[in-house]
Amino acid sequence: MVAEPYRVEFISAGPGDPDLLTVAGARRLAHCRAVLAPAQFQSSFAPLLRGKVLESPFPLCHAEVVEWVERHLTTAPVAFLIPGDFSVFNPFQSFAAHFGTRCRITPGVGSQAAAAAVLGRAFDLPHVAHTTVLASPRAFTRPDAPLRLGDYARPGNTLILFMNDRPLDELVAELRRGFGRDTPIAILERLACPDQRVTRGTLDTIVDVVGNRDPYDIAQEGAEPRLALTVVSDALEGEEPPEWWDQRVRKLWRPRGMR
Ligand SMILES: C[S@@+](CC[C@H](N)C(=O)[O-])C[C@H]1O[C@@H](n2cnc3c(N)ncnc32)[C@H](O)[C@@H]1O
Repeated sequence: MVAEPYRVEFISAGPGDPDLLTVAGARRLAHCRAVLAPAQFQSSFAPLLRGKVLESPFPLCHAEVVEWVERHLTTAPVAFLIPGDFSVFNPFQSFAAHFGTRCRITPGVGSQAAAAAVLGRAFDLPHVAHTTVLASPRAFTRPDAPLRLGDYARPGNTLILFMNDRPLDELVAELRRGFGRDTPIAILERLACPDQRVTRGTLDTIVDVVGNRDPYDIAQEGAEPRLALTVVSDALEGEEPPEWWDQRVRKLWRPRGMR
């Protein structure tokens, strides 16, 4: 009988707090002896990584990562610990393609889910916001980008911005192309980390509220990029009337016999 080859596990680690790793993620991680993890996760997940061979993938080129994985895969499963969830702004996709049927992907808590939890808000609110756009301002600076970030800035949309590289005043000016001045905005730094920080305002006030701070660390060349997520939406302030629950009961759930 031929032994099953060991798996390459792509484990979504969540936004930073190991408590937000899923039960499946923790179980699969426990079986791996070698783990590729960003330096930040190597320290925050230290108790779960004890005794394992660790490497950060970011200083390595593609072929070196593949070689590292193959070398350790001869004796046990190998894990990639993915920040947030695998589905969003994931630089490891080419490795999943490379390892193909040998890999298994474990979903997890994306930073936008952690943001909703911290803000106490769902991003959709009937008649207020019905579409959530996950975007990175970086993608719109390319000369061949067919759309501008401001094209998504419109009432009815919740914009969640990853990896912002624009100074806050420029970002706000772009968002004001479509959003009103009173549109709520929240900047969430290092979600689910011990030094988490949340700054809230409107598009009119946020630049003053933030003041001289640089929540995105744009000016800091060579430093670890700051983990910061920006959420812009009328849903951050709007309220859902309790009658809407009753409407759903009457129109949707009772007629379908939903339990
Ligand atoms: C390469 S993307 C990875 C996104 C990740 N796959 C996810 O599901 O959240 C990195 C960006 O995600 C956001 N991010 C990830 N973790 C975060 C955290 N703990 N707090 C705030 N933003 C975070 C930041 O915008 C950061 O620049």
